[in-house]
Amino acid sequence: MDLTRSVRNTCGQAPLVQTGDEYELNEAVRGQVEFEEQDLRRRMPEGPFDLVLCRHLAFTYFDEALQRDVLARIIERTRPGGVLVTGKQERLPAPADRVTPAGGDLGIYRVSRP
Ligand SMILES: C[S@@+](CC[C@H](N)C(=O)[O-])C[C@H]1O[C@@H](n2cnc3c(N)ncnc32)[C@H](O)[C@@H]1O
Repeated sequence: MDLTRSVRNTCGQAPLVQTGDEYELNEAVRGQVEFEEQDLRRRMPEGPFDLVLCRHLAFTYFDEALQRDVLARIIERTRPGGVLVTGKQERLPAPADRVTPAGGDLGIYRVSRP
């Protein structure tokens, strides 16, 4: 997926500017982004979100009880119709009632209404 093109199609502008091998948010987008450092085991931004990216952390390194807790909190904070993206090899803990695979086996899930 070309993230820059996808977001440009949605927002009307390129959100990422390439500098050498790296990408940075362009200034207009940067002003709308909040960065927070949190311990996911204890805290998580309140949302609600349309998109949650949670790759190679909770669903790889946390034990199953904590994975269930994190997944429940992500679902609470994701709008119906929103999307959760995990790593391709990661599996969500059962039960994951309100999430449905939406991208084959790519780790993309659609969150439904309660
Ligand atoms: C394997 S890296 C994955 C980074 C990124 N999500 C990706 O997919 O490329 C795991 C990241 O989780 C962060 N991390 C580890 N424990 C954490 C915790 N309890 N809460 C929040 N972040 C944590 C680490 O600092 C590291 O940046």
